[in-house]
Amino acid sequence: MLSDEIKSEIQCGVSVCPTRHCAILEALQIVQKHHGWISDERIEAVAKFLGLTVEEVDGVATFYNRIYRKPVGRHVILVCDSVSCWIMGFENILDELRKLLGIGFGETTPDGRFSVLPIQCLGACEQAPAIMIDGTLYGYLDSDKLKKLLGNYE
Ligand code: FES
Repeated sequence: MLSDEIKSEIQCGVSVCPTRHCAILEALQIVQKHHGWISDERIEAVAKFLGLTVEEVDGVATFYNRIYRKPVGRHVILVCDSVSCWIMGFENILDELRKLLGIGFGETTPDGRFSVLPIQCLGACEQAPAIMIDGTLYGYLDSDKLKKLLGNYE
């Protein structure tokens, strides 16, 4: 279930982790980088490889909302729905995404290009409303900026 390449990356990554918790997260991020999401089978494989229980690994995978437990599109759009973004109109961004992509929270476009997921504060409240696409933060969003941004992601 885990390729030799992934095992090697995990070995290297967890060697610098100060805590067990950190090692689990590091391993999950590596697996997700290669497969896009983390299936139950991969949770078991990571647990076995790290010498931990499935429950320990699953607990970390479930806690972090940037570890995906279901298949996602090639690009993941995280839309902040916390207080500052809510005040600054995150719902307009969500409506625009519905118009442009035809999907809302928890959905993936039929062509597998985008998934849209909610996330709590991205730590960019002063730039609200903010989103993150594939780990890159975008703030001060409006409809025009969003439309242009999406064009950058095939
Ligand atoms: S509330 Fe949206 S970035 Fe903080």
